[in-house]
Amino acid sequence: GKPVYILAIETSCDETSAAIVENGRIIRSNVVSSQIETHKRFGGVVPEVASRQHVETVTWIIEESIRQAGLTLGDLSAVAVTQGPGLVGSLLVGMIAAKSLAFMQGLPLIGVHHIAGHIYANQLVHELEYPLVSLVISGGHTEIVYVESPGSFRIIGQTRDDAAGEAYDKVGRALGLPYPGGPHIDRLALESAAAISMPRAWLEPDSYDFSFSGLKSAVLAVINQARMKGQTLEASHVARGFQESVIEVVAAKALRAAEEYGAKQLLLAGGVAANRGLRNRLGELCLERGLPLLVPPLSLCTDNAAMIGAAAFLKWERGQYSSMEMKADPQLKL
Ligand code: KG4
Ligand code: ZN
Repeated sequence: GKPVYILAIETSCDETSAAIVENGRIIRSNVVSSQIETHKRFGGVVPEVASRQHVETVTWIIEESIRQAGLTLGDLSAVAVTQGPGLVGSLLVGMIAAKSLAFMQGLPLIGVHHIAGHIYANQLVHELEYPLVSLVISGGHTEIVYVESPGSFRIIGQTRDDAAGEAYDKVGRALGLPYPGGPHIDRLALESAAAISMPRAWLEPDSYDFSFSGLKSAVLAVINQARMKGQTLEASHVARGFQESVIEVVAAKALRAAEEYGAKQLLLAGGVAANRGLRNRLGELCLERGLPLLVPPLSLCTDNAAMIGAAAFLKWERGQYSSMEMKADPQLKL
């Protein structure tokens, strides 16, 4: 039949993005405008600044996504948008844009959970096989999700404090690295010949939960102690010690979950999925066990609207449309 073109909008944090996805799998366009340069000077995302920037760019980004796809408004089948979680002011901008467009064109509106989007980024490049387990690891999230069948999500483990990416960015700031610190720490860690040993937060033996605040405090203590004693500290040794601790715990728990739940695939998703150390380690462990590891390309790991379009297709197939009364929800449950 006629292809399904979903126009998707993602504005949950500091990326303004619109995309058109065909049949939940083919990216016709994926326009992303990052605000990193704006937030860099504040060392993190400033919510008010983020929503204002979304307002300024969202209309242009939507028009550009349609133009780049070589389509017109009349070709669209539905409008999808990230409903949550995220920054409320930022989510609202995408929500209003999506509702206006859906109303104007008489199209179904589909609200998508941001994490479902991260997981389904994989469907844009891979064939998914169920049941599967996904490690969603980003600046706002660190979760192990069991996906028994398309669109059925169960969180089996999550962070009890900071998200992994948040810990990366805080450690990065303490080491004087530019925002966001994640990619810089990754690079330093891989270059470093030595590591300062850091604690591992395993929590209860059967738990799939994570904790990164103790590790973050341990890193800050090492940095402060060196400063007080007037000792020089190699940032790369700290970076490697920190990264090894994160990767060891995260990789082991994801693998154990995949085994316990009989996953046919392990999916990596979210901004920290860009981490080369994590990809390498998980790659080794999965190879040993003959478990397929699916990782999206870097451009689909960080926030983008194509992943929202991919996840929205599952709902489109089932006619699970949202009402015009749908509200942006900063704490939306998966
Ligand atoms: O998914 P994302 O774009 O936004 C959220 O939904 O949070 O993830 C951004 C996070 C930031 O914390 C950033 O430092 C981290 O992903 N990140 C990395 C790497 N690249 C991005 N963390 C570790 N290693 C990387 N190579
Ligand atoms: Zn994200």
